[in-house]
Amino acid sequence: MSKIHMHIDGQEVTAGEGMTVLEAAQSAGIFIPTLCHHEKLEPFGGCRICIVEVESRGTTRLVVSCVYPAEENLVVRTRTEKVNKIRKTLLELLLAHAPDSPQLREMALEYGANKDRFEKEASFCIHCGLCVRYCAEVKKKNAVGFVDRGIRKEISFIPELASKECSNCKECFPLCPTSYLQAAFVLTESLAFPGASS
Ligand code: SF4
Ligand code: FES
Repeated sequence: MSKIHMHIDGQEVTAGEGMTVLEAAQSAGIFIPTLCHHEKLEPFGGCRICIVEVESRGTTRLVVSCVYPAEENLVVRTRTEKVNKIRKTLLELLLAHAPDSPQLREMALEYGANKDRFEKEASFCIHCGLCVRYCAEVKKKNAVGFVDRGIRKEISFIPELASKECSNCKECFPLCPTSYLQAAFVLTESLAFPGASS
């Protein structure tokens, strides 16, 4: 397999063919924050928090590192002023939905994000899709999915599947960056199949 040579934050990094910029950085021990990425799942590119600046053939632009392919001679900067500012605003928007998420609060501290900048619209789910994709791609069960679209989109457990599959699995619970997933499961369980897990 041919190797790809690039620079990330001034460090020479050798990536394998087919790697994304995020994977190349991770392989070199360089941290880029993520919210919707999981190494067992297909690249998704939903939350945008992993945005970085790349320079190639004299042009600089912002790209989503978890879906952007590693390229020969690419120069990557993971913490420029522009990148920091975008991450700060993204976190402020997400915190309007999930103000109590410990993961978001920790990131907010790092980027100086103000959790009260935008009017609260607490939906608790930030639509990272980790639960839905993990259940579909890794567990092949599709016991949880999205219903509705746009801002009305929310996750929902399919009671007929969840009553059989979820009680002994719950592998998606720790992936959720907010507390919403667990709460949604408990609600589904109490309404649709009380006692199934006891
Ligand atoms: S419930 Fe949690 S894991 Fe699932 S999409 Fe929402 S924030 Fe992501
Ligand atoms: S981690 Fe890259 S878009 Fe969410």
